[in-house]
Amino acid sequence: MPYTFPKSQALFERAARSIASGVNSGIRKMEAPVPLYFTHGRGPELWDVDNNHYLDFQLGQGALLYGHAPAGMADVIAAQARLGTHWAAQSELEIDVSERIQKMIPSAELVRFNSSATEVVLAAFRLARAHTGRKLILRFEGHYHGWADEGLVGFANPADKWGDDETPARLHPSKGVIPEVLDQFVMVRWNDIDHLRRVADRHRGQIAAIVFEPVLCNTCCIEPVPGLMAAIRELCDRDGMLMISDETITGFRFGAACAQGYYNYRADLTILGKAIGGGTPFAALAGTRAAFAKILSGEVVHAGTLNANPLCLAASKWSLDQILALGQNHPAGIQRLGRRLMEGLTALGQANGVPLRPQGPGLIFHAVMLKPGATEGPIRDYRDYVRRHDAPRWAHLRRCLLEEGVRAIERGLWSICLPHEERHIDLALERAAIAFRRHASTWQAPA
Ligand SMILES: Cc1ncc(COP(=O)(O)O)c(C=O)c1O
Repeated sequence: MPYTFPKSQALFERAARSIASGVNSGIRKMEAPVPLYFTHGRGPELWDVDNNHYLDFQLGQGALLYGHAPAGMADVIAAQARLGTHWAAQSELEIDVSERIQKMIPSAELVRFNSSATEVVLAAFRLARAHTGRKLILRFEGHYHGWADEGLVGFANPADKWGDDETPARLHPSKGVIPEVLDQFVMVRWNDIDHLRRVADRHRGQIAAIVFEPVLCNTCCIEPVPGLMAAIRELCDRDGMLMISDETITGFRFGAACAQGYYNYRADLTILGKAIGGGTPFAALAGTRAAFAKILSGEVVHAGTLNANPLCLAASKWSLDQILALGQNHPAGIQRLGRRLMEGLTALGQANGVPLRPQGPGLIFHAVMLKPGATEGPIRDYRDYVRRHDAPRWAHLRRCLLEEGVRAIERGLWSICLPHEERHIDLALERAAIAFRRHASTWQAPA
């Protein structure tokens, strides 16, 4: 029988009386039929208040690379809590963590910590502007760089307003934003190197930095085309711009050296979030000594009461040690499992007449649901995704999967974690088979 969620429903109704809209992050409202309330997790498994059991591929929006409640991490956090939860001062732990990052990421000559990647993005933009004396940041359509005014420009442009292919519009998905923020950005489509070069040439001498998600995880998990990272590096070197790699999702997931190791490029500044803290509110800016110059000189302000919080540092040190211990075996292990899951889901799609086309490098991937009549083949950029992905049909399948105990991110992203094993993938596919059958027999395209 499909799961039901009466206790989550009741808690959500209660929450709405004291928490605005009942949730603490807008995206959580997307969870259908109701935002879920969880009691506990273990590795890749999760239980909700209705005692439903899930194989989790949402994994704290990708932060839980080490799974839910790893015992080792729980121990170091508990031990640290007994010594002190917050000092707003120095501790040896912060050096332990920054030295590990230095060891893992070749471009990480220096590091600064914050509590969220949104903050780190703002620090990186500020540093780049101070570094170059220029105001523009070049960014790509559909890329997400946190929820602040500056992070969301051009993230979810509606098709009727996104402008022509050569000059993508600078739109913001939120009201209440300072309008001048939009003027600080230049928009480019992802994965079109000639277009990128033309836009960079048009604004030559005015751009402080190029920022990107190395894999466009927040829109369809789109890998960079061959040559794109080299082109960004070359343009940055040519024009004195900083190359900012937003590795909030890819950091440590794609290996110890992150996506810049996996795709072989060297960034000036790197944004690290999610897996660096293993589920604690922790994030870091890493980069070259040259890129950090204006913080070193004291001309750029970087601050935060909770920066380098010892609980997060203890969790981070433990987390990074897991990656270091895996050595060359990471990310091959999670990649193999993810690819198996992608193949299994594709096969279920074929067997049930469901046009699901999982896309991505396996250790993370997106469930593309093709619209009726859409052409086949990998999705290349944000516009292509909006044109070909059937979001309502995916949402229907996602709900069927959830009701059978398989949980992916609401918008279609699936992450694999280190404690996932073959048996979890087998069970997920067994459950997914039931979900696909139910989806296929109940889905009705909107009229
Ligand atoms: C690529 C990217 N950058 C920045 C952020 C913002 O991170 P946080 O939610 O920790 O502020 C996210 C969050 O999902 C992200 O995916």
